[in-house]
Amino acid sequence: MNRRQLMLGGGALASAPLLGACGNRGRVIDTPPGLPVSRFGPNSTAEDVTEGLDLSGQVALVTGCNSGIGYETMRVLALRGAHVIGTGRTEEKARKACASVQGETTPVVLELSDFDSVVRCSKAVQSLGRPIDMLICNAGYVAGSEQQHAYGLDLTFVINHLGHFILVNRLLPQLLAAQQGRVVMVSSFAALNEPIVEIEFDNLGFKNDYDPLHSYAHSKLANALFSLELSRRLSGSNVSSNALHPGVIKTNITRNQAGIAQWLFGIYADLFNKSIPQGAATSVFVATQPNLSSVSGYFFADCNPIIVKQPPNNLYNYAMAQRLWEKSTQLTERWLSAELQL
Ligand SMILES: NC(=O)c1ccc[n+]([C@@H]2O[C@H](COP(=O)([O-])OP(=O)(O)OC[C@H]3O[C@@H](n4cnc5c(N)ncnc54)[C@H](OP(=O)(O)O)[C@@H]3O)[C@@H](O)[C@H]2O)c1
Repeated sequence: MNRRQLMLGGGALASAPLLGACGNRGRVIDTPPGLPVSRFGPNSTAEDVTEGLDLSGQVALVTGCNSGIGYETMRVLALRGAHVIGTGRTEEKARKACASVQGETTPVVLELSDFDSVVRCSKAVQSLGRPIDMLICNAGYVAGSEQQHAYGLDLTFVINHLGHFILVNRLLPQLLAAQQGRVVMVSSFAALNEPIVEIEFDNLGFKNDYDPLHSYAHSKLANALFSLELSRRLSGSNVSSNALHPGVIKTNITRNQAGIAQWLFGIYADLFNKSIPQGAATSVFVATQPNLSSVSGYFFADCNPIIVKQPPNNLYNYAMAQRLWEKSTQLTERWLSAELQL
């Protein structure tokens, strides 16, 4: 048991707090001044927040559409009339998920740990020839106790952050072609874990100090910072970018954890946290609410923008966000077309 696991519960329970850590844990959060406060909250569902909205004519892309929050996000966006491009790691997973929801959907393969697959996915999406109104980077991975690498980097960072970094960059022309494009990054309050999570620019392989909890928290901070810097780079354009914490929800996210940890997490999530329809609400809210068209660069939870009052935390660390962008560009240069770089 390492120090971090000890802090969060320890021993056999170490994996359960992995997502328990995603909860608010008594942090004091506030609404950033000047932003609209919504009537929706933790109990709202994705259907609640889109009631009365007609999304016909709009195109949404949801990564990780075959499971949990991503599936519900796709289902509700399609129900409201959007054409949803749903990605799955295999053709079968994407096809099956897309076929099972009511509305217009297109399955596309996306394996985020393989940057060539990300390029193929972006080309398949481009070939549809439609502007993208909503790009919801939902797919996420929590590793097990054995560390894995891709491209010499920590696999969780590659999947959760770099794969999405390439995808969003390659699809920017289509987002810019939409009347009002929105990028939505599904992050997590895990980015606020203790000790303070920061991007470990000189240790992106976690070669000597691997801990799946830290690796996940690190990748989720990267999601939030990517969104922040994207928003800064897109300021003055018709495309917004926001990140969010969906809540703590019993999904398949614990699949790589020990059985006991999965079981405990399930009980915890059932008793104290959100259902999947509630878990998808903030993603769908940020992607669709008409009065958020010019709101960009914020972190949302429970269908509202938030700031965390206890410093220090890095959710709004602009310098770290800019440095992460530069590092990510350097690491993925081969897979980004020159003309698509911001
Ligand atoms: N559940 C929570 O309590 C919670 C809390 C905070 C944040 N989140 C975030 O919410 C998002 C959705 O998670 P979830 O809870 O709905 O989990 P989930 O049910 O496990 O869904 C995750 C999705 O991501 C896909 N995915 C995983 N690795 C991938 C890869 N290498 N390439 C492409 N797609 C991949 C999965 O595909 P396969 O099914 O094929 O593996 C699945 O479709 C994640 O970003 C997660 O970090 C969840």
